[in-house]
Amino acid sequence: MNSVTVSSVMETDRLVLREHTIQDAQAILEIFGDTEVMRHFGMKPVSSLDDAIKMVNYFERNRKENGLNRWAVALKKNRHVVGSIFYTNIEKPYSRAEIGFLLNRSYWGKGIMHEAAEKIISFGFEHMSLNRIQALVSVDNRRSISLVKRLGFRKEGILREHNFNYVENRFADMYAFALLVKEHGIQREDSNTLLER
Ligand SMILES: CC(C)(COP(=O)(O)OP(=O)(O)OC[C@H]1O[C@@H](n2cnc3c(N)ncnc32)[C@H](O)[C@@H]1OP(=O)(O)O)[C@@H](O)C(=O)NCCC(=O)NCCS
Repeated sequence: MNSVTVSSVMETDRLVLREHTIQDAQAILEIFGDTEVMRHFGMKPVSSLDDAIKMVNYFERNRKENGLNRWAVALKKNRHVVGSIFYTNIEKPYSRAEIGFLLNRSYWGKGIMHEAAEKIISFGFEHMSLNRIQALVSVDNRRSISLVKRLGFRKEGILREHNFNYVENRFADMYAFALLVKEHGIQREDSNTLLER
């Protein structure tokens, strides 16, 4: 990540995007404990508040070791945490990373993750100096596919049995989508250069 100093808290019309804290554990349990949310995520659903606390602690350790890469999605109106959005597999030598997101099922269909993702993608291009943001999405994850398409990601191919669906106990094919900085429309002086490594 660039050495530029950035605030970890960002706002959109309806949302505050901030670091997760231990107070989010119950909200994390509601999200990561929901079989429908986890169906295509490649992880077993979380089953207890203790596990959710461990997960938030892991987010914190990961942030300290790997820099700012995950945000809680909180509603401005009541500060309730309804989602989580993150970068993973960050590869600085190639200025690329993978994006992932989860939203509490009660809030699906309201454009909330689209709003959050637009902000986090801009952050990735502007402050993490990314050139390419990748999204790997199970072929039957309809909502995620719609979301990344609406965000401007292009489908590049299929990764056969790349993921494991723990809810259905089977391997799952994934689409590889990606968005490049030059497709995103932000102006950046260094957009054609390789970045700090
Ligand atoms: C992927 C996921 C975050 C998408 O949630 P979502 O609410 O469908 O996504 P969006 O924020 O883009 O919202 C789009 C929906 O909101 C509607 N919407 C309402 N108001 C809107 C607005 N102001 N702006 C945009 N869309 C709006 C859209 O019409 C669309 O509804 P539709 O799907 O019924 O057509 C959610 O399904 C999820 O958490 N899935 C499980 C986790 C997962 O699989 N993650 C991906 C693997 S990394």
